[in-house]
Amino acid sequence: MRLNVNGEDREVDVAPDMPLLWVLREELNLPGTRYGCGVAQCGACTVHIDGRAERSCQARVGDLEGTQITTVEGLGQPDALHAVQRAWVDHQVAQCGYCQSGQIMQAAALLAANPSPTDEDIDFEMSGNLCRCGTYPRIRAAIHAAARAMEG
Ligand code: FES
Ligand code: FES
Repeated sequence: MRLNVNGEDREVDVAPDMPLLWVLREELNLPGTRYGCGVAQCGACTVHIDGRAERSCQARVGDLEGTQITTVEGLGQPDALHAVQRAWVDHQVAQCGYCQSGQIMQAAALLAANPSPTDEDIDFEMSGNLCRCGTYPRIRAAIHAAARAMEG
């Protein structure tokens, strides 16, 4: 089947019920999307499907032909970071880092839908993305900074 990932059409020969997370990591060599729980409880595997934040551990690839899939590798480029990635660096959000690609993808989708979120909006929208290191205050600060940067 053919999947569009980070703007490129990619052919994959896998069972249609394989979770997208496995296809990204094992077939397409895109390890930035992380396996945390496998049961939609942690958010580590978050990617964008047609611009919406989705848990890739729960998305069957057979349902995704014709969609636009974006992973953290495709959100920005090293020399042109997405505003969320820039803010994450500036605020040194990551601790162990394991959850952070999912946090970044969730935050980018949040800002695309709500360019100037309140603390309550952020807490609500990010509540499904767990961080065992407790980086939540820096995540919130970085999202506000990214929102300001995106406003110009
Ligand atoms: S690995 Fe998908 S939500 Fe935890
Ligand atoms: S930075 Fe360690 S789990 Fe979030």
